[in-house]
Amino acid sequence: MKPVTLTERGRVMALRDLLLEHADRYYAQDAPSIPDAEYDRLFAELVALEDAHPELRSADSPTQRVGALPLAAFAPVRHRVPMLSIRTETDTTEGGASAFDARVRKELELGDDDAPVAYAVELKFDGLAINLRYVDGVLVQAATRGDGQTGEDVTQNLRTVGQVPLRLRGPAPAVLEVRGEVYMARRDFEALNERQRTLGDKTFVNPRNAAAGAVRQLDPAIAAQRPLSFFAYGLGEVDGWISGGAPVTHSASLDLLAEWGVPVCTERASVDGAEGLIAFHQAIAARRDALPFDIDGVVYKVDRMDLQRRLGFVTREPRWAVAHKYPAQEQMTLLREIDVQVGRTGKLTPVAKLEPVFVGGTTVSNATLHNEDEVRRKDVRVGDTVIVRRAGDVIPEVVGVVLERRPNNVGPAYDLPASLGGACPVCASPIVREEGEVDWRCSGGLTCAAQRKQAVLHFAGRRALDIEGLGERIVEQLVDADLVQTLPDIYGLTREQLAAFDRMGERSADNLVEAIAASRSTTLARFIFGLGIRHVGEATAKDLAAHFGYLQALVDAQPEQFLAVRDVGPVVAKSVHDFFAHPRHREVLARLRERGVSWPESAGAVAAQGVLAGKTVVLTGGLPTLSRDAATALIEAAGGKVSGSVSKKIDYVVAGVDAGAKLEKARALGLAVLDEDGLRALLADTATA
Ligand code: IVH
Repeated sequence: MKPVTLTERGRVMALRDLLLEHADRYYAQDAPSIPDAEYDRLFAELVALEDAHPELRSADSPTQRVGALPLAAFAPVRHRVPMLSIRTETDTTEGGASAFDARVRKELELGDDDAPVAYAVELKFDGLAINLRYVDGVLVQAATRGDGQTGEDVTQNLRTVGQVPLRLRGPAPAVLEVRGEVYMARRDFEALNERQRTLGDKTFVNPRNAAAGAVRQLDPAIAAQRPLSFFAYGLGEVDGWISGGAPVTHSASLDLLAEWGVPVCTERASVDGAEGLIAFHQAIAARRDALPFDIDGVVYKVDRMDLQRRLGFVTREPRWAVAHKYPAQEQMTLLREIDVQVGRTGKLTPVAKLEPVFVGGTTVSNATLHNEDEVRRKDVRVGDTVIVRRAGDVIPEVVGVVLERRPNNVGPAYDLPASLGGACPVCASPIVREEGEVDWRCSGGLTCAAQRKQAVLHFAGRRALDIEGLGERIVEQLVDADLVQTLPDIYGLTREQLAAFDRMGERSADNLVEAIAASRSTTLARFIFGLGIRHVGEATAKDLAAHFGYLQALVDAQPEQFLAVRDVGPVVAKSVHDFFAHPRHREVLARLRERGVSWPESAGAVAAQGVLAGKTVVLTGGLPTLSRDAATALIEAAGGKVSGSVSKKIDYVVAGVDAGAKLEKARALGLAVLDEDGLRALLADTATA
């Protein structure tokens, strides 16, 4: 092996610093400053240098996130400061919050006249507790909680988690243990399960199980394929507080962690007394479904460290903290029947007909079973007691069977084609399952009324052409009456035709005609999404629109041109290409345009250079003329991103009437605040940018 030259050593160090800095910008600050491809190039250069000179490898090298060898077993790690759990308040009403505050006040011997106690309030993440140990700012060990005294060494798996900094930013204590939760975001969980299903592999019951499985994976290469995230919520051993000494409140310690580049959830606050706890509990309950990850409650912590010390512990739980739960997102219920639904693309989905059950905030009586293989793998049978999950706005699904409750007279193993006699339940066309596909499909195409209905409903949906009033019942009737056979037919509907329908008054017929007319001016992204191309969701539609800029460019593109679009792989590329290559689809596009459906077209890829490229904007309050969706579309068209929470990383806050807390916070942070006119003025520069 060749000796290392001084230049090589210097270059390795420079690359490492550069890559760590860019990873920090990407994961912690959400503000990348170089394209992904450039990052990949620098990374490859470092890999090559380290391969040539293995002695240059170090624990904090970004290359060490992946590539470690499988372990035979995890080594035990003794926690220097025990990892405790917190008491759970199961009373999910506000009484739970008041009871905690009352207990704290009693223990602190506070009277009615004493000031309210200040609390740090946080989310209770539903994942796996982890201790990250940093020595001189470098991640040296990651361990699970285990029994609280001894956990398992999962360092190499945690290194694969992009959000976990391998090196802390800025001067940090000599020894710093960060405690937090490894979790899987819902979107990542759905994508992972989708991938597992396509590969015919076993799916995960919920994001927590998927995250726990990944962390305890002996092969780090497999762990690296499981998309994990991390939030810190506390500290373990700390030695050598730098300037300023130890923080005097819990909130201040989280602020410090955030400054050092450790991910801390921004959905947290400092509040006073029981009232503050209740308000937080309610505010988060209202937003629970909109969060990108699962939570099973909120956590209240006495904020002042001196008070925490005074309160101390009962057995192994601190008296200064409590977890206040929300109603569960998983429940057991009886499976009465398995129906089959025909989707937009002819996909046949087995659907569980359930004994109604209250889960995730609504009563659920139908839940998806995904596909035949899934039903068999989980061995779900009519008569079984099943576990139903509904989290966020994800479709409820059956995640498993409670085998202990299986009755003697349970139904047979599932066979989809046999249950349908081999024919589509709607149009009786033969059903097919192609080699390598997991789904059975109706072969009827748009001759199948179910597929036509779904296609129209999708096109009219809120995230697509947004035709208010064109809902399930009327679409059903329009398709059955043959008034709508293809999408362009929607734009030929008259007030008289609509008013003739059952329960459709003149007023609603007028409204619908107006809504249809208004939907004609849309955006390219909505239009692409509305076409219902297989594998093209809202995000991909936006990416395609931003990349190509105008419709004809997409229609004319070769399959490989689609691969240049962010997040588009061969399967999506083929699907999009095949869609636009189909003469019937081209005709539909032409007729839609003839009938006046239009959008502003651009020269393509301008968004990346738009005035808001790389900028993040928060919208708050009602704007005088722009809806939230419209403002979002304009910002995205100018290359910007819209975020829900105000922080130092935000470039602009656009405030309307009743802007409230976000506006106050923006002012406190000294951020640029605009009104709608200000936003429009800013965007006007896009054209010239
Ligand atoms: S604080 C001494 N904060 O819930 C207090 N825990 O039993 C230590 N968890 O195993 C925990 N979100 O994994 C805390 N914001 C949060 C949390 C949180 C989730 C988990 C943690 C722990 C369990 C509590």
